[in-house]
Amino acid sequence: TGLTTLDQGFVNTASTKSEITYIDGDEGILRYRGYSIEDVAANATYLEVAWLLIYGELPTPDQLGEFDDKVRHHTLLHEDLKRFFSALPHTAHPMSVLSAAVSALSTYYEDSLDPHDPEKVELSTIRLLAKLPVIAAYAHKKALGQAFLYPDNSLSFVDNFLKLNFGNLAEPYEVNPVLSKALDRLLILHEDHEQNASTSTVRLVGSTEANLFASISAGIQALSGPLHGGANEAVLTMLGKIRDSGESVEKFVERVKAKEDGVRLMGFGHRVYKNFDPRARLVKESADAVLADLGVNDPLLDIAKQLEEVALGDDYFVERKLYPNVDFYTGVIYKAMGFPTRMFTVLFAIGRLPGWIAQWRESNVDPKTKIGRPQQLYVGPDARSWPVDR
Ligand code: CMC
Repeated sequence: TGLTTLDQGFVNTASTKSEITYIDGDEGILRYRGYSIEDVAANATYLEVAWLLIYGELPTPDQLGEFDDKVRHHTLLHEDLKRFFSALPHTAHPMSVLSAAVSALSTYYEDSLDPHDPEKVELSTIRLLAKLPVIAAYAHKKALGQAFLYPDNSLSFVDNFLKLNFGNLAEPYEVNPVLSKALDRLLILHEDHEQNASTSTVRLVGSTEANLFASISAGIQALSGPLHGGANEAVLTMLGKIRDSGESVEKFVERVKAKEDGVRLMGFGHRVYKNFDPRARLVKESADAVLADLGVNDPLLDIAKQLEEVALGDDYFVERKLYPNVDFYTGVIYKAMGFPTRMFTVLFAIGRLPGWIAQWRESNVDPKTKIGRPQQLYVGPDARSWPVDR
């Protein structure tokens, strides 16, 4: 038509209006519904922030109590769905398990799929918030070859999640409050980040009027890539390789700068933040405190700090405005908590779930929403005649 502009990777194109999250990438500002990420992380809990993102305001104590209660009472998975885990190899990546199981949820809850019925959307919302952590913990247990535990409704959201991951049937599980607080804070830092790749995926799938479970399942797969949520796993793999190879941090950075085999400094750089990532600052603060509290001394944290120092003093990174992002230090903390590397991106997904839901719902009730359908610039051959000599 002559009207199409090419914007590869959507660097300059807004796909939607949104009232949920504000980012100023030059100033390193992130706000949820107007509240700074620093204030939210210091004062709220995961479910409180979920309410804020989804419904637009901070909940009253009564509203939060009711919400928390509902989430606690939807945590059970259907016994048949529990058997679903046995159909997958124990070596399955937990992100694939998570996405497949969320997709499977839609087959159990056909009564709540209608995107045009607000009560059903509400029910799907609660079901997802309640069941995703349970699915995640079962993916973890499956990989370990350990028995699944029933959710414990007497525990808070995060404590229940910790017990499902680290408890066993043989002995009682004591939640470590330091771990619980730290995990809650990390989840909050991940709850929303406006139109990143996974959230845009959730909105795009939702724009077809596909149900919430289908949209979230697609979002989980989009998050799994190493340039997005998968970066937290990739950072730990990178740090481990540096440690095991004995290569100096300086030498590794030289290889990154030379773009040797396309190697990147994982956990560095961001499409929007060009000064610093405010979440990374908060995570770094946590890293030292949490590791000290847990009595863990991890040489990988020292390698990460050295990498940061070398990179921040190097023209390659300065010129390209590459700084540590949220994924740079989270892995070291998750590892100290006892999570295997392959669970890191799953933790990101649990964190991001409220944001995905809030964004899907915002789009779903907006009468201006149209099916997402990008244009292309065709650069293939002109019309050719048939038959051809082959
Ligand atoms: N290490 C080395 N070089 C990099 C890196 C990096 N981590 N990130 C960007 N660059 C270079 C890139 O090679 C390019 O250089 P040149 O101009 O010479 O070609 C320049 O910086 C611009 O990079 P880009 O790929 O055009 O930037 P982008 O905005 O498309 O990509 C990014 C953003 C986050 C995908 C990228 O910085 C990256 O791959 N980082 C590593 C993966 C990562 O940590 N991802 C997590 C992002 S934050 C949480 C999340 O969203 O899930």
